[in-house]
Amino acid sequence: MENESVVKNYNLFDDGTIDNTIRPETIEEYIGQTDVKENIKVFVEAAKMRNEPLDHVLLYGPPGLGKTTLAFIIAHELGTKVKTASGPSIEKSGDLAAILSTLDPGDVLFIDEIHRMPRYIEEILYPAMEDFSLDIIIGNEGNSRNIKIDLPPFTLVGATTRAGDLSSPLRDRFGIISKLQYYSIEELTQIIKRTARVLQSQINDDAALELAKRSRGTPRIANRLFKRVRDFAMVKKKDYIDLATTEEALNRLKIDNFGLDNTDHELLLAIINKFNGGPVGIEAISSSIGEEVTTIEDVYEPYLLQMGLLKRTARGRMVTDKAYEVLGIQRPQK
Ligand SMILES: Nc1ncnc2c1ncn2[C@@H]1O[C@H](COP(=O)(O)OP(=O)(O)OP(=O)(O)O)[C@@H](O)[C@H]1O
Ligand SMILES: [Mg+2]
Repeated sequence: MENESVVKNYNLFDDGTIDNTIRPETIEEYIGQTDVKENIKVFVEAAKMRNEPLDHVLLYGPPGLGKTTLAFIIAHELGTKVKTASGPSIEKSGDLAAILSTLDPGDVLFIDEIHRMPRYIEEILYPAMEDFSLDIIIGNEGNSRNIKIDLPPFTLVGATTRAGDLSSPLRDRFGIISKLQYYSIEELTQIIKRTARVLQSQINDDAALELAKRSRGTPRIANRLFKRVRDFAMVKKKDYIDLATTEEALNRLKIDNFGLDNTDHELLLAIINKFNGGPVGIEAISSSIGEEVTTIEDVYEPYLLQMGLLKRTARGRMVTDKAYEVLGIQRPQK
């Protein structure tokens, strides 16, 4: 009996539940992204002063940097509600009409993965974004008619990991376009300490710093690693998370000193071992390590480029001298 209740309790604290408790709700709690934050504060304030909806906002950048979080914070700062949808789930014009018709004046409509919205849905969205009106065709072939529906003024917040995949007419209809950047170690340290506070755990400064260094510039990874390290500390019956436990846990999870994980290593090693360090096309890398091209481009590559481990050239991807150094591999003489 007792064991059963333990299991149930544990399920209550699955990642989903925890993610919602540690997600910052106000712009003051949102750490880093200073430029983006400062701009949004001004635009929100001005919109409120004019008593108008905020201009449409496009947030883009690699996964886990806080796009969804920021969309909810924007609504919170505006004092309005959020309705959410994701690009691929809007298949028919009726789906879009159904979502838009639930909006109250000033609400935020958050569309995640907006680059995956079908093109014909985009075209219905244009007038909705520009004039707050919806032109749709109802009925079936031979018996169809156009109807125009007035919508309440609203703010569209779109999020995407691939801004380049958005059609330019859609991109042009966003008044505010913000790119989220990888976080500094200092910012990630603050995020980890905040998460520890919210989850009522203790973490030493040096342990928080070590976690931050290995989090790939990404709050989602920082939080995920924090939870795993916390598990190790708990099982070792520690009252607080110390550096030794953190290092042990991260090494067991195979996160190296640069925050690179198994896939990062595989990617760099594939270029070195199978393609002489490059240049090599992304498709060849993709089939050699068994990851989708889009996953490599959106998730892995941006950080490796930022860290100076990988270079993009006209002829393909190349690893840098620094990559050989980090992996402890002697660069062959050319
Ligand atoms: N600036 C921040 N300060 C504190 N915590 C943050 C911040 N940004 C993100 N987080 C944390 O990181 C987690 C991931 O953020 P979020 O889900 O907003 O990322 P995302 O950019 O929408 O990712 P995806 O592209 O995968 O949808 C959140 O649950 C939140 O707790
Ligand atoms: Mg998101």
